[in-house]
Amino acid sequence: MERAVELALIDRVLAQTAADTRELAAAMTRRPVSDYLDPDRYAAERSALFGHHPVVVGHVAQLPAPGSWFTHDHTPVPLLVTRDHEGRIGAFANVCRHRGARLCDQSEGQGRRLTCPFHGWSYDLGGSLVGILHGEGFDGLDRATHGLVPVPVAERHGFIFVRPSVGGALIDLDSVLVGLDADLGVQRPEGHLLALRQWDVPCNWKVLLDNFLEMYHVPVLHSGNIGPMFEPNRSLYDEFGPNGRRIDPRRSIRRLAGQPREQWRLRDHALVTYHLFPNVQTFWTQDYLSWLSVWPVAVDRTVCTQHIVADWQPDTDELRRHLETNLDLFDQTLGEDFATSAGVQQGLRSGALTEVLFARYEQGAARVHTAIDATLDRWRRGEPADAWA
Ligand code: FES
Ligand SMILES: [Fe+2]
Repeated sequence: MERAVELALIDRVLAQTAADTRELAAAMTRRPVSDYLDPDRYAAERSALFGHHPVVVGHVAQLPAPGSWFTHDHTPVPLLVTRDHEGRIGAFANVCRHRGARLCDQSEGQGRRLTCPFHGWSYDLGGSLVGILHGEGFDGLDRATHGLVPVPVAERHGFIFVRPSVGGALIDLDSVLVGLDADLGVQRPEGHLLALRQWDVPCNWKVLLDNFLEMYHVPVLHSGNIGPMFEPNRSLYDEFGPNGRRIDPRRSIRRLAGQPREQWRLRDHALVTYHLFPNVQTFWTQDYLSWLSVWPVAVDRTVCTQHIVADWQPDTDELRRHLETNLDLFDQTLGEDFATSAGVQQGLRSGALTEVLFARYEQGAARVHTAIDATLDRWRRGEPADAWA
């Protein structure tokens, strides 16, 4: 984030705290309950947003060296993401070219070859077929055209984006990030994956996303843990195409009003968060980057993953305790979010409501629904799902 932007954001927060106001969108919005229940809409969202739109599936910290790989199972095409021996990142369907077995069955690994557990075909980390057991049985097979099936992949600011679509168009990250480069570039942490966790939540993926995209609930639902740390419901929201930047000020930010501007540091007094459309919400704290991803796996079931990466490792008792304290806090707050989201799904299914409401200060949650609608409209017209810029 540029320094002038950082100062302008702090000015906006302090203007609100001084006047005891909050920034408001022009109007509240309503969404039909059917958005969260309709199996046809769910199928369209999964295909358009998770099959054809680029999604963040991981971070370069998960590919620390040539020969590193990880798998990802929450998109319609099961994925294998690799770093080959020249250091290049590749993404492939995690499907053996012989008869379709799952090639890599672990979540991550490291090696010179990937060998299929069914009949032993092997591939290098660039996806080329390099070994067939008893190869004389496949006389005439053109090995050069029987490597792993690639899908488009691109990396920027450490995030690995994949378009999980065989034969899909290359990813244009300028179009996907729509002006967020200046913010994301400066704040990139190097290095280490501190945590990668996963939960299964019985709700529609957008119920959970709505929760992550607003701070209205924080002083109420999280009153026993993080609630009291934050200025109640006084976040700033700015749109970057379908993406969003939300600044969640801590109460300590009021102290800056009496300090010289040169000493103002936003991250000392606020969570700096970005929604990377469609399904990722990132949080930059003072000392690590974390992001939550929501992956629809059924109309009423969602896998939530959390990554934490940092430029330090928990290699002392103090740093281990620091990490554990942070993970405990995430466990408490996410436990409350997951339980509430499961209850919301039951409430929506009950037939009691026909629509749900988003307040004028829940801009991020309201915005994602219009961006999803726009994506579905383009996809139904046969246009690229990610033609944002
Ligand atoms: S399916 Fe992989 S070697 Fe047969
Ligand atoms: Fe929450």
